[in-house]
Amino acid sequence: MITAIVSKKGGVGKTTTAVSLAAALAAKGKRVLLVDLDSQASTSLSLGVPRSALGPSSADVLLSSLPVAEAVRATPVAGLFLVTASTDLVSLDQDLGPLPRKEDRLRWALAPVADQFDFIFLDCPPTLSLAPLNALVASDSFIVPVVPHYLALEGVRNLLHAVNRLYQRFGTRTHLLGLILTMVDYRTKLSRENVLRIRELFGRNVFGIEIRINVRLAEAPAEGRTIFEYDPSSTGAVAYRLLADEFLLRAANAPIIGLERPPLAAVGS
Ligand SMILES: Nc1ncnc2c1ncn2[C@@H]1O[C@H](COP(=O)(O)OP(=O)(O)OP(=O)(O)O)[C@@H](O)[C@H]1O
Ligand SMILES: [Mg+2]
Repeated sequence: MITAIVSKKGGVGKTTTAVSLAAALAAKGKRVLLVDLDSQASTSLSLGVPRSALGPSSADVLLSSLPVAEAVRATPVAGLFLVTASTDLVSLDQDLGPLPRKEDRLRWALAPVADQFDFIFLDCPPTLSLAPLNALVASDSFIVPVVPHYLALEGVRNLLHAVNRLYQRFGTRTHLLGLILTMVDYRTKLSRENVLRIRELFGRNVFGIEIRINVRLAEAPAEGRTIFEYDPSSTGAVAYRLLADEFLLRAANAPIIGLERPPLAAVGS
């Protein structure tokens, strides 16, 4: 299953969730590929890839038709593989601009390797530019990390409407696997209230497991290690392990690609 991790909002935990969820699944014996689609290359750097060694990257796959198999590399985590990002992605929209079918290049690129992995995660930049559009078109499902702040809901609604338009335009079959509440701070009343509000509005579309604020999760990327190597008993590591269990349950119940799925417009509108 190919899962895009998307949000138009920056700094909501997309990369932390992509790396931690992928690593937790690898630890459970799954074969997992993480594709970094953000020119900041945070996923790649978080896994210890030096800035000088980012190529070949997803930019080469999307722009130069490099076969994805040639961009896949092993990581220090057994079972976890990576396609890095690079700064070449900054001009992706301009560079792909004149080309036909520029939104489904990733779908075609991933097709030959999709069978080789149990799960493929696509970490996106905080925009709805061509990289996330490619990710949504290529994916079977998508996850939206949400920090329970004021105005968080508007962003989620906009995103779901944008996905719905893609559904109509490209006949894509991606569906919402779930919103994930991240950086939840139970000490503040506002955070607690917003968690309840989001759960009320989106119901079963919200993962039951919540990721609380945990400074260890913020420290691990600087060491180039996942939370499970950096501090396996931290609350962040425990939460992402539980999230991986819930992910597996949700993935097992996910509709199979090619079958008709309900339009997303109904979700949370
Ligand atoms: N649960 C958490 N507790 C504390 N810090 C966190 C948590 N999750 C993520 N962070 C930190 O918050 C910052 C933003 O997280 P992250 O990079 O995962 O967000 P993002 O959505 O990928 O951001 P961007 O939109 O820039 O790609 C990072 O410094 C990260 O280490
Ligand atoms: Mg990120």
